[in-house]
Amino acid sequence: MRNAAITGWGMAVPDRVLSNADLERMVETTDEWITSRTGIKERRIVGPNDSTTSLSVAAARQALARAELTPGDIDLIIVATCTPDQFLVSQACLVQGELGGSAGAFDLGAACAGFVYALAVGSHMVQSGLHDRVLVIGADTLTRFVDYTDRSTCILFGDGAGAVVLEATTEARGLLSTVVGADGGGYKHLYIPGWGAFVPESAELFPEYRPYLQMNGNEVFRFAVRVMGDSAVEAVAKANLTFDDIDLLIPHQANQRIIDAAARRLALPAEKVWINLDRYGNTSAASIPIAIAEAAGAGMLHEGDNVVLVAFGGGLAWAAGVVRWGVAGVCKDAACRKQPVMSGVGQHE
Ligand code: ACO
Repeated sequence: MRNAAITGWGMAVPDRVLSNADLERMVETTDEWITSRTGIKERRIVGPNDSTTSLSVAAARQALARAELTPGDIDLIIVATCTPDQFLVSQACLVQGELGGSAGAFDLGAACAGFVYALAVGSHMVQSGLHDRVLVIGADTLTRFVDYTDRSTCILFGDGAGAVVLEATTEARGLLSTVVGADGGGYKHLYIPGWGAFVPESAELFPEYRPYLQMNGNEVFRFAVRVMGDSAVEAVAKANLTFDDIDLLIPHQANQRIIDAAARRLALPAEKVWINLDRYGNTSAASIPIAIAEAAGAGMLHEGDNVVLVAFGGGLAWAAGVVRWGVAGVCKDAACRKQPVMSGVGQHE
């Protein structure tokens, strides 16, 4: 049996705080409305010196340090993001360039569901024997694409990055089950129309293709309640577990009411649900790895615990999985470390 244990974790958010009181001064809204409709109190917003790269690298360095690995030990880097700093090159290559090493590197796009998708891909890379150590990052700076005159979206989002290191293990650790799905027909319910290679033929259409996030909140809400519950239940069943076996739910942090609905479907009490959206808002692909890092730091995750991850987002896309926490069966001896495939190439001091 070969699995992919999570042996390291890390997170990074910008220093700048945007509170509900700040938003009250920017658009016609109130702390009471935002709190009661979403649960969000404040978010972290990128400043001039922050980027998807800088946040990713900071989170990755923490994760590597916790796993007691160096960038040269990593075989593959996957960055889940919908806000890469550039289209050419990939966000993962920008991160690898800062970290050093010669790991393979690519991006994965599934918006807010991206980290769980990427965790599934990275885990299966390890399970298949193709790689021994994979760095999976979820990072987004969506506030760069938020229209701060649109009160229905600007209250929701924050920026950040989270990372985990996956290492091969002989025990049942890491991702035990995976559920992924998408409804591309619903893409216009949540998208950034004017940021991509497509350019409309007619100049009259340009105003519609502004590079700002557009959302049909009610549609996304209904979709999210349905898929968060359904996919979490499916992931538990696929792992051959019951709801009683679940120690913690780490959901995508978009809206307290959506999370409450998912927790009800799994019959989980509030103390078994990790919530940090009050402090960070919706950080898109970063939300679950940030929550993992915080839950681990708070001592909420123990060897052998079963943790449900579930996320939804633009696409429309969704993903869920059950992770068995812990490092049993991971070989940390130097002898277990593979030599970098292209030793010396791409190494940075
Ligand atoms: N402050 C005050 N009033 C507001 C605000 C605001 N910030 N925003 C909207 N309103 C008003 C609306 O204009 C509307 O007024 P009206 O009745 O006079 O027309 C009223 O509040 C109700 O608006 P709704 O949109 O029906 O409010 P709802 O209860 O649905 O909450 C919300 C809106 C919070 C956006 C909710 O629909 C939601 O959370 N949807 C999911 C969004 C989400 O999670 N998106 C991220 C997906 S992840 C990714 O991939 C990025």
